[in-house]
Amino acid sequence: MNLNKAYWDKKYALNKTVWDIGYISPPLRAYIDQLTDKEIKILIPGAGNGYEVDYLFYKGFTNIHVIDIASQPLENLKARIPSFPDGQLIQKDFFELENHRFDLILEQTFFCSLEPSYRKAYAMKMHGLLNEKGKLVGLLFDRTFKDGGPPFGGNEGEYRRLFNPYLSIKVLERAYNSIKPRKGNELFFIFEK
Ligand SMILES: C[S@@+](CC[C@H](N)C(=O)[O-])C[C@H]1O[C@@H](n2cnc3c(N)ncnc32)[C@H](O)[C@@H]1O
Repeated sequence: MNLNKAYWDKKYALNKTVWDIGYISPPLRAYIDQLTDKEIKILIPGAGNGYEVDYLFYKGFTNIHVIDIASQPLENLKARIPSFPDGQLIQKDFFELENHRFDLILEQTFFCSLEPSYRKAYAMKMHGLLNEKGKLVGLLFDRTFKDGGPPFGGNEGEYRRLFNPYLSIKVLERAYNSIKPRKGNELFFIFEK
């Protein structure tokens, strides 16, 4: 059983959101900064407070979809960006998202929040949600965590074995621009369908 809505809602209600850095992370910002086509359809899964959504929105990307199983972070987003289209804020289990295909999916600390038994399902679902040549891009932890999880850690070899059957691994390397507490412990990746 994956961690459910009640588990995540409670984290937000109690403000136990240690993963929330309060601004867009430099690796995601650098990636977004080199995108030229503002029409692409983008998904932010397990977005949480999703500061990359503000960044994309104010840069002129309009086709951004945000999904989270918890309600609070989506309400926070709507309060920060009142003109963000309601239909593109989706409160749902990621694994139940249907009828959409994306050109770009941005990952940050969503993968590591899932029970490891869901990793294969994550890779398969990402494959299903991407258009041909669409990309899954973002950050994965390159470390283990004590005391169970979430977060659940991993390493490069494991990720290569997991994603290789579904997506083409274009980049999977130590991020050079991580935030200080994650420096040396995360991999930046670009996987293409
Ligand atoms: C560790 S937080 C990361 C949030 C955000 N990506 C960030 O970096 O700040 C994990 C997020 O995934 C959401 N989540 C967990 N399981 C989910 C699922 N099955 N479907 C959609 N969202 C989920 C949680 O509610 C939470 O907001």
